[in-house]
Amino acid sequence: MRTKIVAGNWKMNMKWVDAKSLLLGINQYVNTHKPNCEVIVCPPYPYLDNATEILSGKVQVGSQNISEYEKGAYTGEISAEILNSFDVSYAIVGHSERRSIFKESNEQIGEKVKTAIKNNINTIICCGETLEERQSDNHKKIVKEQLEAALADVSDKDIANQVIAYEPVWAIGTGETASPAQAQEMHQFIRREILESKYGNDLSDKVRILYGGSVKPGNAEELFSKPDIDGGLIGGASLKEDDFASIINAASRTQ
Ligand code: 13P
Repeated sequence: MRTKIVAGNWKMNMKWVDAKSLLLGINQYVNTHKPNCEVIVCPPYPYLDNATEILSGKVQVGSQNISEYEKGAYTGEISAEILNSFDVSYAIVGHSERRSIFKESNEQIGEKVKTAIKNNINTIICCGETLEERQSDNHKKIVKEQLEAALADVSDKDIANQVIAYEPVWAIGTGETASPAQAQEMHQFIRREILESKYGNDLSDKVRILYGGSVKPGNAEELFSKPDIDGGLIGGASLKEDDFASIINAASRTQ
């Protein structure tokens, strides 16, 4: 049985005063309701240290990016070693905004995954097609290329601790969600074809595959009820305490 995950990707939002109050609220919700799922919060870099203290261990902390370089003269970058020294457990890697705006390549994302794992940071590896790629029926091919590159150096020993997030670009921040059937179809393809051909049946069954793209309280439960959808990577709705709590509750109910 895979434990579901609800991860909040705050992106570049929230002044510290608001971020602190949201962290305190999430911490209280999780400690009171003890949901039956893992909860991860990925705030902007400067808040990570405070976040690990406020969240008292029940909620894990992740970064939104990570450098592919180990250390040295890379002004503005944050290494896996630095993140690890702040008790950061996860790093989001290859988010579509990093791919499209910051031109991260599949190979670069593979390097980031490799460096993160080497430094004991688990990765949330994002993949997903654009609207044009879906309309031209290339969505599975694109996701396969993205994941094969991202997982190029991930061994059998490490794969079960990595998380995959399928986030169709056309569903991110648009209010448009992939239907539960569309999402399930892609998640099943990721597990049964991409992961299984590299890691075999048993290990593929252990990998959590999250859905991301306009997840909200009103659609979370239906999405999370699908057999290969193991929770969500939440953008906009993770900035509102009540909405995030309600999505955590949906994951816990469908566990
Ligand atoms: P939204 O939930 O705002 O659509 O964002 C999804 C996302 O990009 C999470 O990483």
